[in-house]
Amino acid sequence: MSSDKETEVPFTQFACIGTGFSGIALGATIQRWYSISPSSIQFFDSQPCVGGTWSINQYPGAACDVPSALYSFSFERNPNWTRFLPPHDELRAYLTKVAEKYNLVPRMKFNTKVTKAEWIPSPTNPRWRLTILDLETNLTSHHECQFLFSGSGQFNSPRPLDVPGLDSFQGPVIHSARWDHSVSLHDKKVVVFGNGCTAAQIVPSILSSTAHLTQIVRSKHWIYPPVDAKVSPFAKKLLASMPGATLLQRFIVYHLAEADWAGFTLTPSAASFRSRRRKMAEKYMKTTAPEKYHPLLVPEFEIGCKRRVFDSGYLECLHSEKITLTNDKAVEILPHGVKMADGRVVEADVLVLANGFETNTPTTLLPVVGTGGHTLQEHWSETFPGPEAYNCTSLHGFPNFFLLWGPNTATGHTSAVMAIENGVNFALRVIKPCLEGRASVVDVTEQAEREFVERVQEALGKTVFTSETCNSWYTARDRETGRVWNGMTYPWSQARYWWDCMMIKKGDWVYSSSIVKRRRPGLWFTAFAVMASGGLLAWVGKNPNSRLALALAGSRFAAVVPVLRTWGLGVIGRKGLN
Ligand SMILES: Cc1cc2nc3c(=O)[nH]c(=O)nc-3n(C[C@H](O)[C@H](O)[C@H](O)COP(=O)(O)OP(=O)(O)OC[C@H]3O[C@@H](n4cnc5c(N)ncnc54)[C@H](O)[C@@H]3O)c2cc1C
Ligand SMILES: NC(=O)c1ccc[n+]([C@@H]2O[C@H](COP(=O)([O-])OP(=O)(O)OC[C@H]3O[C@@H](n4cnc5c(N)ncnc54)[C@H](OP(=O)(O)O)[C@@H]3O)[C@@H](O)[C@H]2O)c1
Repeated sequence: MSSDKETEVPFTQFACIGTGFSGIALGATIQRWYSISPSSIQFFDSQPCVGGTWSINQYPGAACDVPSALYSFSFERNPNWTRFLPPHDELRAYLTKVAEKYNLVPRMKFNTKVTKAEWIPSPTNPRWRLTILDLETNLTSHHECQFLFSGSGQFNSPRPLDVPGLDSFQGPVIHSARWDHSVSLHDKKVVVFGNGCTAAQIVPSILSSTAHLTQIVRSKHWIYPPVDAKVSPFAKKLLASMPGATLLQRFIVYHLAEADWAGFTLTPSAASFRSRRRKMAEKYMKTTAPEKYHPLLVPEFEIGCKRRVFDSGYLECLHSEKITLTNDKAVEILPHGVKMADGRVVEADVLVLANGFETNTPTTLLPVVGTGGHTLQEHWSETFPGPEAYNCTSLHGFPNFFLLWGPNTATGHTSAVMAIENGVNFALRVIKPCLEGRASVVDVTEQAEREFVERVQEALGKTVFTSETCNSWYTARDRETGRVWNGMTYPWSQARYWWDCMMIKKGDWVYSSSIVKRRRPGLWFTAFAVMASGGLLAWVGKNPNSRLALALAGSRFAAVVPVLRTWGLGVIGRKGLN
């Protein structure tokens, strides 16, 4: 249903889909860098509150797996984390606090889903037009903006269970990302599907309250010893009172996490790194889990080809008599249980799906229509067999549009928040000429996008991520060509992403023709120029020989200017667009 009352379409310079780490990073950074008022940005989120991942995933045991010293904003370090790996509610409270500090909450519309984004190529007022569905009233409306950011995350579409008969089940079915706290598991027979990061957190958290828990597993995961611990009051005091302590802590955690990068490539030194890590993980898994489950748990594939799981009591809880672990294939869901391949039925009152998310597919993102009426989905399926973006952020034909934590930004070893901040910083550097009024539209070139993506896929082919022997959410196989596509992970170090986000290659971008409006010199520069020319004139007036020197200097300067221009330092835009 469309709103009849809508007369004038509201406009803000920025709009952002999502209010998780990405959206908040954007809202804070436009203020920190460019003093842009929060009233210039409008956020939309289909959730009822701030937090994204951390408001959506409320399953028992949900917590981060990268220490929060690094899994938090670099510009809002927090000395008060209660644990190294704090739970979801603490992460959500942190995000809410940051959003409030930057006055972003009044700029957020919750329970509203952006259902379409369309580029309006008007010569005088090019802009994005969003179609918004109010999930409470079912009314649609529009919103327009100059710059559109998608901070819509990568884990928002729960993967449907690939076992037939789910609709026939008589009890509650709960996906980890749609946890229903009104369902009591007390004395219930529970069947859990999956054994990734999510299941490894859920199972130890719910086991004691259930009557019995059967966990149906399929692929394996490398499980590392726990890294979580309470932060002592002394450590908190030190972090809060010692100048630079949180920065130092972040720096140390960054390096400890980034050390794992050494194991992702296919070089001999990376192989020996993986072999050492593998010995450590295998020893830990075998000494902690019951022996009867070792064949179901310990992977044969290379360490690193899936995101590692830090144990949070999972392997230990497998000793309980209340749990049965099975890797038999579930073939059908029945009204009161699950039929297995060998014909037996595992009785169940509740089904818990920890079977992951839809990844590597363009369909998880809303329809975004760029120049020429092409959708983002068409762009992805026509050019490459899966999601991709220039520097993980931009797509040719989608001007003034940026994906935050976009394709190929995920990592197997470190914090997504770093990549998110780098992506925000990158986009804000790219649009700087527009913010200064020297252009209104910016688009990445087709060639730059294609070359970047080919480099990424080639580099990924030389990593364990794209291993043939391991099945993970990082990769998908194109049904027609058989080509393996990894639209999820970044093939290089995070230091490289930071560098690439800082060094904008001007030649890869096309700015609109209004770029001809040259940058006006600042006040300080003008004052300096006036004083310097006054001094120079006085000197020239006193000394006749200086006229020759002045002419020579002038000719040198004239020669240097074209060189600067070819480097892209003098002129930013080359072609016009709207
Ligand atoms: C359970 C879980 C644990 C994780 N733990 C870690 C971890 O420890 N370390 C790590 O580095 N990463 C972790 N991740 C990855 C995590 O998703 C990122 O770290 C980060 O939170 C992503 O933030 P984001 O803002 O980009 O997206 P999200 O947090 O996913 O937020 C996206 C928001 O966009 C909204 N949205 C999407 N589409 C629309 C639309 N069309 N209209 C309106 N709103 C929309 C969603 O409702 C959501 O609120 C975890 C993921 C999960 C699922
Ligand atoms: N902070 C954290 O600790 C944390 C917590 C949760 C999630 N995460 C993030 O979210 C990502 C996704 O984690 P996830 O655990 O939700 O998903 P996941 O890693 O994709 O794991 C899902 C598991 O369920 C299995 N599965 C699917 N269908 C099944 C079936 N019918 N029968 C048996 N098993 C089945 C999958 O096996 P197949 O591989 O064979 O399909 C897979 O092993 C993580 O990699 C991580 O980045 C982080």
